[in-house]
Amino acid sequence: MAQTLTIRNDVPGNSSTPNLYGLMYEDINRCGDSGIYAQMLRNWNFQANDTGGAADLEFWNVLGGDKAASIALDAKHGLNDINTNSLRLDVKSVSDGRVGISNEGWWGIRVQPDETYKASFFAKASDGFSGPLNVTLESSSGTVLASASVDGLSDTFQKFNVELKADVKEVSTDNVFGVSVDSKDAEGKSLWFQVFTLFGDTYNDRENGLRPDLAETLKGLNPHFFRFPGGNNLEGMSIDQRWKWNETVGPLEERKGRFGNWEYWNTNGQGLLDYMYLTEDLGMTPVLDVWAGYALDDSSVPEDELEPYIEEVMNELEYLMGDTSTEYGKLRAEHGREEPFEIPYIEIGNEDWFSTTYEYRYRAFYDAITAKYPDAKIISTAAQESRPYDLIDDHFYVTSAEMIDKFNYYDNYARSGNGSGIFVGEFATNTKGCCGTSPASMEAALADSVFITGLERNSDFVKMIAYAPYIKRHEQEQWDPDMIHFDTEKVWVAPFYYVMQMYNKYDFDTILQVDADGINFGPLYWVAGSNKEKNQIYVKAVNVGGDEQSVSFNFKGLNVKKNGEAHIVAGQPDDENTIDSPDTIQPKTSKFKTSNKSSLDYTFEPYSATVLVLDIN
Ligand code: AHR
Repeated sequence: MAQTLTIRNDVPGNSSTPNLYGLMYEDINRCGDSGIYAQMLRNWNFQANDTGGAADLEFWNVLGGDKAASIALDAKHGLNDINTNSLRLDVKSVSDGRVGISNEGWWGIRVQPDETYKASFFAKASDGFSGPLNVTLESSSGTVLASASVDGLSDTFQKFNVELKADVKEVSTDNVFGVSVDSKDAEGKSLWFQVFTLFGDTYNDRENGLRPDLAETLKGLNPHFFRFPGGNNLEGMSIDQRWKWNETVGPLEERKGRFGNWEYWNTNGQGLLDYMYLTEDLGMTPVLDVWAGYALDDSSVPEDELEPYIEEVMNELEYLMGDTSTEYGKLRAEHGREEPFEIPYIEIGNEDWFSTTYEYRYRAFYDAITAKYPDAKIISTAAQESRPYDLIDDHFYVTSAEMIDKFNYYDNYARSGNGSGIFVGEFATNTKGCCGTSPASMEAALADSVFITGLERNSDFVKMIAYAPYIKRHEQEQWDPDMIHFDTEKVWVAPFYYVMQMYNKYDFDTILQVDADGINFGPLYWVAGSNKEKNQIYVKAVNVGGDEQSVSFNFKGLNVKKNGEAHIVAGQPDDENTIDSPDTIQPKTSKFKTSNKSSLDYTFEPYSATVLVLDIN
């Protein structure tokens, strides 16, 4: 029997929410430190070791050999109250050449043709030694790729800045950053170092900014909002270990790191203001997730002890939104940003269905926030009865079959009640089950595509959609699948990246009714919509089966033009884009012709997600 879908523009359709797709961001899978945060040095301020234990000098080595010099962590020569340790270099002899220190970076340091690197550090020296210090980028075997020198050390810490221009023809990553001395004057002297930075180019040339290739890849999705800073990483493994905004702002030498929920040290070199710049630079609307009295050891702040935590959040909001006459608005200006931000969405907590205390915690935070910011849209993370919400944040980490089954999850969902819409704040098909050890395969992409097709069918009510987690460093993941993968050298993306990119690009304003004849949902799933401004209609369809699906489309209440375009992501279920084969799944575009003004025959490929773009008269 013929499979016919009739797209109905002759009956009113529901309005769809514009700008549905955005990002959920937290430092997981080493995607912040070591990833999108472009700081290239590791263990740059000796606050703690990578597992949150006592500080050490891991990732630092002696240049020139142990007989010529030694290094030690020195707790007697801290830089300030926050950076209480320093790296001490004791120089014994320079007779065999230069001696110094080197940093391994995050699994190497990428040096590229035509890139300029900016390095900085605090340093002082004993016994009148004033320099010079040679600052280098060099291969791990000692070939110098770029160098500069600084002079003028004294017995008190001073900040030194250098620029390093690499004279290289090819990209390489097996490199280190070095600081060394070669003058006889240095022999027998000690030098102390703290708070190092090394940045290559950054996105939009921001100081303390983003690794450009990763930022470009995020930008490639054209995300409309940015939810941050978590996720679990907001919450802490204990109340005290929560993400504290005030420790993440100001000059780097004043920032305090914390042991993150994803079990590695977070330097907070990328902090609240940096996230806001990221949000602005990528043209996104901020969705600020605030800590709401619950940590992942299942501890809740008792109701009568919430006040200081509420104050902490109110200070955070004032830091972002207050003008410079306010205490924290003034602080923001001192940190380089005079103009206040707008924070249209504030989410209270994260996944609070884990707790039994959300009722009183939500109420307390909601009351304080809305009293001062009545226009903010408030997002709740779990069902509660105490106060209204604008959106509720639903999360889905399920198998392919379960995700496909969720295609119609919101079809019959009550449209009224305590709130007004859905934020699918996190979802991903975990083919092996939740959570975190499944491939970012085509099978997962197809199930995710079915799910978002269902979300778009309900996009009158589903207002925002974000995949999670987004980014992982290759071989350092705590959670698979992820959409964007990187190592020190490069970036590649999972198949679903391309589907979300095209679903987002072909954004409709009206969901059109589709009547089916001779066909039911499965293995083909579809949604259709129109975009009045562009005078186009879009049919988005996912075929999760291994056979082609031929469909006769009829169009009612509209005339389609002759030439259409199909955007397709297709492959075998087990296909993945990997480090060795990053382009296994790539999107493709093909042309098609309609039969006449009101009909089209189209065959969907096996295992594919497709957007048909039709111009209308
Ligand atoms: O995306 C990974 C984690 O999944 C998030 O941190 C948390 O919100 C959810 O449980």
